Amino acid sequence: MYRSHTNGALRIEHVNQEVTLSGWVQKSRDKGFMIWVDLRDRYGITQLIFDEERTEAAVIEKAKTLGREFVIQIKGKVIEREAKNKNIPTGDIEILVNELEILNEANLPPFTIEDETDGGEDIRMKYRYLDIRRNPVKNNLIFRSKVTQEVRNYLSNQDFIEVETPYLIKSTPEGARDFIVPSRMNQGEFYALPQSPQTFKQLLMVGGMDKYFQIVKCFRDEDLRADRQPEFTQIDCELAFVEQEDILGIFEGMTRHLLQKVNNVEIGDFPRMTFEHAMKTYGNDKPDIRFGMEFGELNSVAQQKDFKVFNDAELVVGIAVPGAASYTRKEIDKLISWVKRPQVGALGMVYVKCNEDGTFKSSVDKFYNQEDLAAWAKATGAKAGDLICVLSGPANKTRAQLSALRMELAERLDLRKANEFAPLWVIDFPLLEWDEETERYHAMHHPFTSPKLEDIALLDTDPGKVRANAYDLVLNGNEIGGGSIRIHDKETQSLMFKHLGFTPEEAKEQFGFLMNAFEYGAPPHGGLAFGLDRLVAILGGQETIRDFIAFPKNNSGRDVMINAPAPVTEAVLSEVNINITTPKE
Ligand code: AMO
Repeated sequence: MYRSHTNGALRIEHVNQEVTLSGWVQKSRDKGFMIWVDLRDRYGITQLIFDEERTEAAVIEKAKTLGREFVIQIKGKVIEREAKNKNIPTGDIEILVNELEILNEANLPPFTIEDETDGGEDIRMKYRYLDIRRNPVKNNLIFRSKVTQEVRNYLSNQDFIEVETPYLIKSTPEGARDFIVPSRMNQGEFYALPQSPQTFKQLLMVGGMDKYFQIVKCFRDEDLRADRQPEFTQIDCELAFVEQEDILGIFEGMTRHLLQKVNNVEIGDFPRMTFEHAMKTYGNDKPDIRFGMEFGELNSVAQQKDFKVFNDAELVVGIAVPGAASYTRKEIDKLISWVKRPQVGALGMVYVKCNEDGTFKSSVDKFYNQEDLAAWAKATGAKAGDLICVLSGPANKTRAQLSALRMELAERLDLRKANEFAPLWVIDFPLLEWDEETERYHAMHHPFTSPKLEDIALLDTDPGKVRANAYDLVLNGNEIGGGSIRIHDKETQSLMFKHLGFTPEEAKEQFGFLMNAFEYGAPPHGGLAFGLDRLVAILGGQETIRDFIAFPKNNSGRDVMINAPAPVTEAVLSEVNINITTPKE
């Protein structure tokens, strides 16, 4: 038996018990006549004491050789500590050791294994197994496990069935690039790793599974950000004989269940907002509604004066930043430089200080009088003490820029509180999205999403205006899930493919299997998928998903611990009939 208790278990009531413990040496302090060792495992830390007067000399000698991260087993008696440590649950006791076995020695770790470590990101990723021993990472993984368990509890109680779908498949159209896998047995042919199990879950509905879920890896070859990994996990769900309302209800319920069980937070009905409203009011289809700073459109009050920049702009739009009228000239200049960074791309920013005495001071006083500026304040909801920030230009671009500024200011003003949760359904997404590069429409969600019946006629006249039965769940300004009601008849699906620019042959080649299935009694169906990594990170009060993934990739898509991706030998390549000729120097 390696241990009778874990290192987090022993308390004052265990005093005088003989125990066996195992774990890692967190640190040891050698005072000559006494040695203390902090013994650590997943459950906590227990202090060991080796005392010249009470412990055998041979055991003390061995204890003197212990280094950080040695794996040891000890036997000893629980005793009450003289100097108690109120900071840890085992702080009232220590173990007077009488037997010590070194189970394994350890090299000195390349960084300290403590909550606040001296290790940089790269080194911690390279030695991720050591990083996982640290509380912040360990606790995130335990937290993730709790969330997934609660997801399974909730969905199983609602009669969902967990079904696994294959990873070696054909391209699924989620809009990113595929990772491809060569086939040895089918020379010259390739599998694609799923960007999502979308087509399979729809086939499961044709198969009568009715309520499906899967906690599943998805693979997307896209540029990485804090909330994106090339392989990530979805809670993927699909239901038959449902309407949008049924789906929103079930998954609102699931999110509420998680917030309750995991965060101890009760939330009432989730608000809903149309895509159009979200874009106009927040410049963003995933607004963080924990704070205001809603957009005020100023065209009607800021144009037709002598300010050419605004007169020429498609949109003039502003936000009222609470309490920021006190910003100095220098601080405002910094904000202006911030919006002019290439990542944001604004050409400039006009500002208005709403003074406490009810007067206004703006950067465009030459063109606008107090009455004009009062109208701006009204449109943006600015109060005395606020600073109005105004951008102008092409509508979509300007909204995106102001949205970036809004989020940045919220961060600076500490309005994005990690322990405050504001879920939101964004509904009525457009069905199609114009792509400047290819000069054609793309499915905004995916090509199986059903248009709103009342909008179908617009497909021929104004395709960009057609709304879809598609919805996203947004939590604290992050898209944590999205889905749609699907097309379940062949005619609408063919119509959709036509509008997406597929010839009937191309559609058949790519999605013939699904179109065929729809000829064998496909029920009305719909679903959604949550991004588990994002959901867990946000419930955990953070936004970087890497910290909630055991073995994540870095920003270049590399696993620096196992050093992947890596070249393979020519022999391996030739087995799958791939010849890479490296250009000669
Ligand atoms: P979608 O593409 O919106 O929908 O993905 C669903 C959710 O998955 C998360 N997500 C990601 N998380 C981390 N890294 C990524 N690279 C990444 N990409 C997406 C997001 C997103 O909301 N098949 C549809 C769902 C459906 O229609 O049922 C789909 O995959 O949180």
